Amino acid sequence: MTDGTPADSPPPPATGDDPPADAAIGAPAPPAAVAEADRLRAEIRRHNHLYYVLDAPTLADAEFDALVERLKALERDHPDLVTPDSPTQRVGAGPAAGFAKVAHAVPMLSLDNAFTADEVRAWGERLARRLPDDVPFDGLAFVVEPKIDGLAVSVRYRDGVFVQAATRGDGFVGEDITANVRTMQSVPLRIPATADPLPPGVTVPADLEVRGEVYMPLDDFAALNARLEAEGQAPYANPRNTAAGSLRQIDPAATAARPLRLWVYGMPDPRALGVATHWDMLHGLQALGLPIATGIRRFADLASAVAFAEDWLARRRDLNYLADGVVIKVDDLALHDVLGAVSHHPRWAVAFKAPSEEATTTVVAIDVKVGRTGRLVPHATMAPVQIGGVTVSQATLHNEDYVRERDIRVGDTVLVKRAGEVIPQVLRVVPDLRPPDAEPWAMPTACPRCGEPVTRAEGEADTYCVNAACPAQRLRHLEHFVGRDALDIEGLGTKLAALFVAWGLVEDVADLYRIRAADLEGREGFAAKRIENLLAAVADARDRPLRRLLVGLGIRHVGGVVAQALAAHFGSLAALGAATADDLQRVDGVGPEIAAAVVAWFASPHNRELIAKLDDLGVRTADPDWVPPARGETAVAAAPLAGRTFVLTGTLPTWTRDEAAARIEAAGGKVVGSVSRKTGYVVVGEGPGSKLDKARALGVAELDQAGLEALLATEGEAGANAI
Ligand code: IVH
Repeated sequence: MTDGTPADSPPPPATGDDPPADAAIGAPAPPAAVAEADRLRAEIRRHNHLYYVLDAPTLADAEFDALVERLKALERDHPDLVTPDSPTQRVGAGPAAGFAKVAHAVPMLSLDNAFTADEVRAWGERLARRLPDDVPFDGLAFVVEPKIDGLAVSVRYRDGVFVQAATRGDGFVGEDITANVRTMQSVPLRIPATADPLPPGVTVPADLEVRGEVYMPLDDFAALNARLEAEGQAPYANPRNTAAGSLRQIDPAATAARPLRLWVYGMPDPRALGVATHWDMLHGLQALGLPIATGIRRFADLASAVAFAEDWLARRRDLNYLADGVVIKVDDLALHDVLGAVSHHPRWAVAFKAPSEEATTTVVAIDVKVGRTGRLVPHATMAPVQIGGVTVSQATLHNEDYVRERDIRVGDTVLVKRAGEVIPQVLRVVPDLRPPDAEPWAMPTACPRCGEPVTRAEGEADTYCVNAACPAQRLRHLEHFVGRDALDIEGLGTKLAALFVAWGLVEDVADLYRIRAADLEGREGFAAKRIENLLAAVADARDRPLRRLLVGLGIRHVGGVVAQALAAHFGSLAALGAATADDLQRVDGVGPEIAAAVVAWFASPHNRELIAKLDDLGVRTADPDWVPPARGETAVAAAPLAGRTFVLTGTLPTWTRDEAAARIEAAGGKVVGSVSRKTGYVVVGEGPGSKLDKARALGVAELDQAGLEALLATEGEAGANAI
């Protein structure tokens, strides 16, 4: 909470004889502040324990930081609240019980961090100042390695035999996890592990200690979670903590069942290996059979190392492990001794970190926008916050359920994520920082643009304004109405539709039939011949088949195939408008979703007016040659996806899950919740779940939205031709 809530407001500036702004120091903190500080301390201690001891954090780093910041702010405002054992005085936790302690003869240090290329260069400059006079900075080689996000371990071999493994702990004392690491396939129990000759000069020291990172590859993590889910157990939240937790199983057999990997990145005493550079050390260890990371590179100068690192950071998402950055290291081991270390980190290495993708901020307002399809989308305005070098102050809240499930309220502190190019997401609320007066949010019951009641069909996530005259939807309706799949009016495309709306000629689609030559004469680009052709094309579109008019009305889920079925079954808009949901569902290919959308559309008085208006203007709203379908005869000409089963996973670029499901259903397909051998296709969006892993394991065909659209289009055409 650093962004100007009342409790954080700076004190008024000191003037003249005013007492200093912190004169309130003497005054005891009000009871509410005492209670809040107590509560925050208890929460911070609990989360510390979860993170450091149990390896099972339930908060993102940014959320935890927000709690600490809030406590610090309280303690700043009321210094009498500070206690020596307040977590603000020491953030961290003691070691876990249950494992023997191992002292590290050479401490396991951490790394200095840089978040930008400039900060890496500044590190280089600091380093340059410490070099001996006869060592030019320009001549230094650097090694760039991935910074895999796992758990640091030390592994020891005596006379070539694996004898001990330990966690980093506090850097000086760790925990003995020998029995657990022994179960890991990637850790050789004897070195050299191969019969290959060692590189020249490399010798195996009698006492060899290597340090590295234990992690879980992402595909293995996904498979583990898929298995757990299949067994009805809760999946793990992230690979890092799963790896850490797996290493600290009391029962080594439990560790053995986990897909853990090791990669080694250093030694406390690399010269014992007979090498002079970090690069040779890594490759010497590799020759002994120890795993090193792929993609390690050596560069002749820092500039090239930085250029590579920047490129690598941009691509790190494609990797099969979690990496939070790269580590850039001076290659020459002799210089490691010269440069030395501070208590926290060595001077010869720096972690070039990917910018954090998460931050906390406060919700200032929740508004609802009406999209061109009539969809109501709640949307958060937040106190501006920097995430990964970009200022974020807006986020979509998707739909009513998204807000409700997370109970997002105005005034809340929220965790926001901005990953790559994706629009910022509000992940969740930090409940401990909720102001007492924050009110639950509710979706409006009337459209914010036209005031008409909105509808949300049962089982659907989205709320819609179905008023065809809603100004937010005017242009889209018109474009749709004149488009190829609907009335197909020649010479009237999206550009002209936009002009008609802008000129105020068209408020609803029926107005199109009212346009006269006089409305267009004298406007740029409207010669007499063009006006004549255009008006003739519009007049001609009075007598289109009912199915085209139906498509043109823009009823949700009513595309070509469904419109054809409805037109064949009912024959007129009047009959269709009088149909109940049950009547509608008697039509083949019409399920509850489509039926509900049709009923909702005809229930709107505006839409009924629109039909009356179309009638008045001479637009044909009934098929002249219609014959009622014989009993039992199926009215739908084709259900092209009939018999095929689809599973949806992840977020599609432009279709909601319901929309995609409705389109598939409309084409006769079936959408189910889980993957099995019977699944025909899995439709994959962004952030797919374990369903995708399962689908891949079973060899189910994958489609993205474009693929699904293509399938619907080709199959749909086949259906249309049959009509
Ligand atoms: S070198 C004395 N190299 O990052 C140098 N560490 O933030 C210490 N890490 O505790 C570490 N990849 O667990 C080094 N290529 C890499 C690394 C790496 C991941 C971890 C390691 C360390 C932490 C420091």
